Amino acid sequence: MSLYPEIRMRRVRQSPALRRMLDMEPPGPGRFIWPVFVVPGSGVQQPLDSLPGQFRFSPDRLVEALKPVHNMGIGGILVFGVVPDANKTDNGCAAWEPDGPAVEAVRAVREHYPDMAVFTDVCLCGYTRHAHCGLLDASGDVDNDATLAPLARMATTHAKAGATAVCPSAMMDGQVQAIRQALDTDGFNNTMIMSYSTKFASGFYGPFREAGGSSPRHGDRRGYQASYGDSRRGLLESALDEAEGADILMVKPALAYLDVIARLRERTNLPLAAYNVSGEYAMLHATAERGWGDLHALARESIMGIARAGAEIIISYWANQYDQIMG
Ligand code: PBG
Repeated sequence: MSLYPEIRMRRVRQSPALRRMLDMEPPGPGRFIWPVFVVPGSGVQQPLDSLPGQFRFSPDRLVEALKPVHNMGIGGILVFGVVPDANKTDNGCAAWEPDGPAVEAVRAVREHYPDMAVFTDVCLCGYTRHAHCGLLDASGDVDNDATLAPLARMATTHAKAGATAVCPSAMMDGQVQAIRQALDTDGFNNTMIMSYSTKFASGFYGPFREAGGSSPRHGDRRGYQASYGDSRRGLLESALDEAEGADILMVKPALAYLDVIARLRERTNLPLAAYNVSGEYAMLHATAERGWGDLHALARESIMGIARAGAEIIISYWANQYDQIMG
C-alpha cells in the first residue's frame, strides 16, 4: 500500500526557497497585542523576575517603552493596572478610580500613539484584598451577580479614558451583557468588548500573578474559570459570550489549548484572539537559560502554532521583541 518511492515529501522541502514558498506567512506585527503592567506614579520601570524582558511601568515610562514597539508595527497593548496593597479593599473600588494607573495609561497612550489599539483588562483580582476576581459573599464564595455592577463600572471608567476595547477576564456569567449595557447607557457604543471568553483555570498564570500581585489569598479560581477537563463546556463559554454581545472572543492560555482555538475558529465568525500567557513565556525563558533550547526559535515556533490553530489576534509578551523573533 506504500506510495513510496513515487511520492517523496522531501522533494518539496529541499531548499529554503521552496520552504519559504510553501509555508504559511508568519503573523505580522499588526496582529499582536502586548500585555503591560502599569503602576501609579512616574519614572518607574521595574523589571519582573518572573517575566524576563517585561516590566512594571508608570504611565510616562510606558509611553517611552512603546516607541520601539509602535515602530515595529505592533497593533495594540493590553493594560493591567497594578495598585499597592494599601489601595486594595474588599470590593476592589480602586478598579474604577478615575485616576488609577490603568486609566492614566490609557489616556497617555491614546494621546501619544493614536493609531494603536488600547485594550484594558477588566477584573477585580488586582484590586481586591482577597485577590479573587469578584466580590465575596458571606461564606467566602465569589458572588457572581454582585460582581457584575463593579465590573461594568470599571469598564465604563476605561471607556471614558479612551480604551478601544474593554476585556472582561473575571469569568462571571453575564459579565459581557452587563458591560455592554453599561457602555451603551453611557454612550460608549463604539467601545468594543474583547471577552476572555474561554479562559481556563490554569497553572500557567503563575508569573503573571507574581507581577500583578493577584494570587488569591485563599482557595483557587476553579469555581469560576473553566475546567480544562472538558473542551465542550469551554466552547460553550465562548458561544454564550458571543450571544451576550462580545465583539472579539479569546482562548486563554494558548499553547495547551490549540485544539480549543482550532475548534472555536470553525464555530464562530467573530474575530478570535489567543492569549499566550505568562507561564508559556516564562517556560521558554527557563528552558533557554538552562541551555536546553534557543529562546527565539522556541518563541517563533510557539507563535506559529497559535497562528496555525487559527487565532488572528495574538496576545503575547513576545510582542515587544517581535523583530528578533519573527523578523
Ligand atoms: C485576571 C487575569 C489573569 C491573567 C490575565 N488576566 C490572571 C488570573 O486569571 O489569575 C493571566 C495572564 C497571564 O498569565 O499572562 N483575572
